[in-house]
Order: sequence, then C-alpha cells, then structure tokens
Amino acid sequence: MDNENNERRERVLSLIQPTSVPTIGNYLGALKNWADMSESYDCIFGVADLHAITVRQDPAKLRKQTFEMYALLLALGLDPEKNIIFVQSHVPAHSQLAWILNCYTQFGEAARMTQFKDKSAKHADNVNVGLFSYPTLMAADILIYQADYVPVGADQKQHLELTRDIAERFNAAYSPTFTVPKPYIGKAGASIKSLQDPTKKMSKSDANPKASVSMLDTPDDIRRKFKSAVTDSEAVVRYAEGKDGINNLMTIYSCCTGKSFEEIEREFDGKGYGDFKPAVAESVIETLKPIQDRYNELTRDKALLEKLAAEGAQKAAYVAGKTVSKVMRKVGFRQVNK
Ligand code: TRP
Repeated sequence: MDNENNERRERVLSLIQPTSVPTIGNYLGALKNWADMSESYDCIFGVADLHAITVRQDPAKLRKQTFEMYALLLALGLDPEKNIIFVQSHVPAHSQLAWILNCYTQFGEAARMTQFKDKSAKHADNVNVGLFSYPTLMAADILIYQADYVPVGADQKQHLELTRDIAERFNAAYSPTFTVPKPYIGKAGASIKSLQDPTKKMSKSDANPKASVSMLDTPDDIRRKFKSAVTDSEAVVRYAEGKDGINNLMTIYSCCTGKSFEEIEREFDGKGYGDFKPAVAESVIETLKPIQDRYNELTRDKALLEKLAAEGAQKAAYVAGKTVSKVMRKVGFRQVNK
C-alpha cells in the first residue's frame, strides 16, 4: 500500500453498516466478491459505525455489532495483512474530512438524495442533521483513501454520484487532490428476492423473519425458511416468466452450486418442490459453513480481533492522514508548528 502514486495497484473501497447481519442476498450479490477482489486490487473495507448513529442505536448493542461485523468481514476470507480492514470511528480523519466536504456540498444537492427522503419519512421523530449529511461522510470515506472503485448497490449509487461531483468540484477549485471514484461493476451480482414475496428484494429489515436468510442463521433456521418459501402451483422446476418464487430459488441454488439453470432443470426433472427446496437449503448451508466456522472462531478470540482492528486502524489512518493534510493545506488552514 505504501509505494504511493506510480506503482500502486488500483484501490477498491467499501464500508458496511453494523446495524444488522447481512442476508444471503447481500452475500451472493456483493460480499462474496469482496474476498476475490483482493487478488487484483488493494482493498479497503470498513465497518461504518459513524453512519449507524444517524439512526438511534443502543450503545451496548452497537459496540457488540461493530465487532461482529468486523469479524464477519474477516470471515469472508479477506486477508488483513494484504488489505486494510478497519472500523470507521477508529480513524478520526473521516469525521474531519466530512466536515470540510460539507462546506463543498450544496444544501440542494444533499436534499435531493432519495435515501435521505426515505429515511426521514421512516424516522420522522429523528430527522437529524447527521442523516442529512450522511452522503458527505460517505464521500469522505471514499475520497480519503483515493479509492478508484466502489462496489455499490442501487441504493448507494446516488451517493457515489454525489461523491464524484464533490471530488471534481474540489479538484477544479484547487488542484487535483482526490481520485474521482468509479462504481465497481463486477461479475453481475445476483439479485436475490424475498422468500415470502419474490417480487421484492430480500431485505434484512423485512418485518417477516421468514422472508430473509441471514449469513449467520443456523442450518435449522435455513431449512425452515426455505421450506416455507413461496413458490407456485405448477410444481415444475424451470426458470420462466411468472415463476418468481422458483426463479429466485434457482438463482440462489445456482449461485451456491455453480450450476447453470439448464443443469438445475435437468437435475430436478420429474421431481417436485418437495425435493428442490431442501436441496436449495442444503446448498446455502454448505456455502455459509466455512464463513460461519471462521466467524465463530474469531468472535471467541476477542484479543485477536482487537489486535487486528488496531492494526487496521493504524494502516487506514496513515493513508487517510496524507489526504487530510493535503486538503487542509489547500483550503488555507495553517499548519501547526511542531
Ligand atoms: N452507506 C453505505 C450503506 O449503508 C455504507 C457506506 C458508508 C459506504 N461509507 C461507505 C459504502 C463508503 C461504500 C463506500 O450501505
């Protein structure tokens, strides 16, 4: 990471909020690729605890979930030696840069963000300024590491666009300071739907617990949820329009086993959903097992997790500090005399 500028590999960055355990939709659609990316890119992945407090959190729970999310990132197979894996609040420079970027973002731009509009409708009793400036903190997360690529889902695309606008604006006002980040378009991440309403995206915040499968669900939970997954009355395993439930299960099974839809159709030719559903459940259990095993090992070793988080924070702070000094100089802050 240190051989700056000329020789450095391109950087991929993403953060994830610790407020709930990711679903198999998050995993198959995005997280699964994170570990692979580190072969070709320098990867910087973090737990966005600063973002989490834009919605009221229970302190003990937040503390616990932050560590669990950190462990889960490691459990994905990301090597903390080769990559930077850190907790956002451990690197104060994020908040510092976020303040500065607030002053380079127009009220109207932030007010247009659809996520702000959705969240302020959802949390009408706590429409705080942090919720409003959430995207400038996210811009700081990205720009502070001079990230080249950010893997983003549809819900974060608008925030990345704003980040690019802020970076370009700052670069034009002063001189090139920030790398303008691009969305990372990986192998088409699968879009996994709710098991109860397969026309909707699978979401961890779904009120119906049977609608989504979390990455840390037990094998029994997983079997139960797939057993009650919504299908159709045709009782034929084939991928077709109007068969949203079966299409979704086939997508999940295909992602977990690597089999194509034709192979799956052949495998279940003449069989019904009573055979297919348990097979999907087992493929998910198998896929999650190594991650869950590693996660359980890590969460048992608090000292190791703390050590890795401290090292991650130190590496992150080094890279972030360089950007922040540059920015402070450009906007006209006096350097402290050492
Ligand atoms: N806002 C993102 C989400 O909720 C999390 C996030 C924070 C993020 N900072 C980021 C994602 C920087 C990508 C890059 O999903």
